[in-house]
Amino acid sequence: RGKRAFIAGVADDNGYGWAIAKSLAAAGAEIIVGTWVPALNIFESSLRRGKFDESRVLPDGSLMEITKVYPMDAVYDGPEDVPEDVKTNKRYSGSSNWTVKELVETVKKDFGSIDILVHSLANGPEVSKPLLETSRNGYLAALSASSYSFISLLQHFLPIMNPGGASISLTYIASERIIPGYGGGMSSAKAALESDTRVLAFEAGRKNKIRVNTISAGPLRSRAAKAIGFIDMMIDYSLANAPLQKELSAEEVGNAAAFLASPLSSAITGAVVYVDNGLNAMGVGV
Ligand code: NAI
Repeated sequence: RGKRAFIAGVADDNGYGWAIAKSLAAAGAEIIVGTWVPALNIFESSLRRGKFDESRVLPDGSLMEITKVYPMDAVYDGPEDVPEDVKTNKRYSGSSNWTVKELVETVKKDFGSIDILVHSLANGPEVSKPLLETSRNGYLAALSASSYSFISLLQHFLPIMNPGGASISLTYIASERIIPGYGGGMSSAKAALESDTRVLAFEAGRKNKIRVNTISAGPLRSRAAKAIGFIDMMIDYSLANAPLQKELSAEEVGNAAAFLASPLSSAITGAVVYVDNGLNAMGVGV
């Protein structure tokens, strides 16, 4: 049977999550996705109305099928963690079972198991503030949504992941080099995510033979990146300075993710894999 992939963090056809879904689908995987609760309605109705049909086209001409879309909010592990104002919020009360624990229980009921887990989500409410001006709450919220969310997903999915499976997250070089503008603790969140990739690779590898890697991706004009506000500058900077002078396509990251999810990478775990036209290797701008 083909492999089954759960991709967390798909809410439109512009981001890395969508591109990874497509590359995995092109390689024959069954695709199920987790969509942030507040974005669920618009994503599902756009999907239904055919708004994404053009971007659903796979290399063989067929359309990517998404078997099921699950509502999720990766900052809540179980129902007991959800504050009253979120519970009663109209956008949340219309959906159910969207905490990580309930999500995984539902996936287990529906499908039994998965082979591939992709974490393609991040959020930092104070991302536009320099780290020096970031509040404790803003910092912790960035870590909760962008780093712990991966630990929580892996922790809960691991028991239903088939041995030999793989998990992948998306990180950014601001974890290890100064990228002014990537604030609010988001640089810290990516540093945590990369360190956790190594520790979780050990733990999940020993316990369940699951590989854990992260892709350090170059700049892409996604919805999340546009919200940060400096994405065009980062794309221009990369074009001017990277060894490969071309705009990075989401598909290139998708294809790297498909490799990291496949047996072709069966000895790669605990790695930060750069998919950035080589920009990370530069020491100075040119
Ligand atoms: P995106 O907007 O397509 O994806 C981010 C997703 O996270 C959205 O679908 C959003 O609804 C979801 N999300 C936010 N908070 C959530 C929560 N609490 N629970 C569940 N879902 C939540 O944007 P993009 O850029 O494709 O982001 C995907 C990953 O790629 C992120 O980890 C990001 O940091 C990373 N990345 C992006 C780069 C870029 O230039 N766009 C560069 C390097 C890494």
